[in-house]
Amino acid sequence: MSVECVRVALGARAYDIHIGEGLLERAGAFLAPLLHRPRVVIVTDENVAAAQGARLKSGLEKAAIDHEFVVLTPGEETKSFNQLEALTGRLLDLGVERRDLIVAFGGGMIGDLAGFAAAILRRGCRFAQLPTTLLAQVDSAVGGKTAINTAQGKNLIGAFHQPALVLADIEALETLPERELRAGYAEVVKYGLIADADFFAWLETNGAALIAGDADARRHGVKTSCAAKAAVVSADETEQNTRALLNFGHTFGHAFEAAYGYSDRLLHGEAVALGMSLALDYSVRRGLLPGDKAERAKAHLKAVGLPVSIADLKPGADISSGKLAELMMQDKKVESGRLTLILARNIGEAAIVKDAPVGDIEDFLKQKTAR
Ligand code: GLY
Repeated sequence: MSVECVRVALGARAYDIHIGEGLLERAGAFLAPLLHRPRVVIVTDENVAAAQGARLKSGLEKAAIDHEFVVLTPGEETKSFNQLEALTGRLLDLGVERRDLIVAFGGGMIGDLAGFAAAILRRGCRFAQLPTTLLAQVDSAVGGKTAINTAQGKNLIGAFHQPALVLADIEALETLPERELRAGYAEVVKYGLIADADFFAWLETNGAALIAGDADARRHGVKTSCAAKAAVVSADETEQNTRALLNFGHTFGHAFEAAYGYSDRLLHGEAVALGMSLALDYSVRRGLLPGDKAERAKAHLKAVGLPVSIADLKPGADISSGKLAELMMQDKKVESGRLTLILARNIGEAAIVKDAPVGDIEDFLKQKTAR
């Protein structure tokens, strides 16, 4: 069982991402060198604890690491101020010290919440990410973005706090519902589209096998995605500039997620797939991208069962062009009331376009929403 390693080069905050099978059973060996004392607290949710908890427990026991599980309710609602208060209180009650290591074991919700708790507990504790969803393994567990949601929106309260280690055990994906796996795959395709045409071509050939469970395809897909993300994060850790490229498809996508109330009627990755498709079409409209390239990229997303047009969405949400444009203006990349979009110049090449004309985007969305 080979294990791949990607280093996130961030000077004193540099860390390794290990990708492979059987990593949870070996987690103790990976974590031990980071520990000041042989004890960790693991933050997870009920689903992950039931499906994968025994594997991690055995890995910690093998290395004689004392451990305590804090098991939270699954779902995005848990990423709240109330739950953050409860979690930090629990971590303090469990005697977590400043030099201890907190383990975030789960999908994006757990990584974001536990990472943020680690960022603020005793003014900052180290933490490790053990992501168990494809989305978390290729995106949210890497790069140090941590956050909770508020009534004003998603991820608006948070901190950049890099993990000390990431263990992406691809075996954990075996118990992931297929729809979630497919949604996570949208973020894998994103790396091909923004930075690596060869990887995109590889995905066209191997993406279906990756989704179906082929371990070699999964290891290569996760590793290449993590390497792409590590390169971007190393160059611009706090998103002053080029890290925004990772938001390809997200500005359009977030508007749809918000319109659907961040519910399971439209998963984040599904919204990203649709958002990337719209960003590709809008890039064609702006004369940046030849139409056949947009069609090729969308054909792959469609082939793996991801939404590529507004007609693919379930009814029952206000997705009028005016509402969508209004929601897009809530994006974190809006500066002085002006929208920044990530658009495509080619397959494998994205560009940051500042001052995107909101009226033109609304016009574009009007065409796209006309049924
Ligand atoms: N998910 C985008 C980023 O980490 O910057």
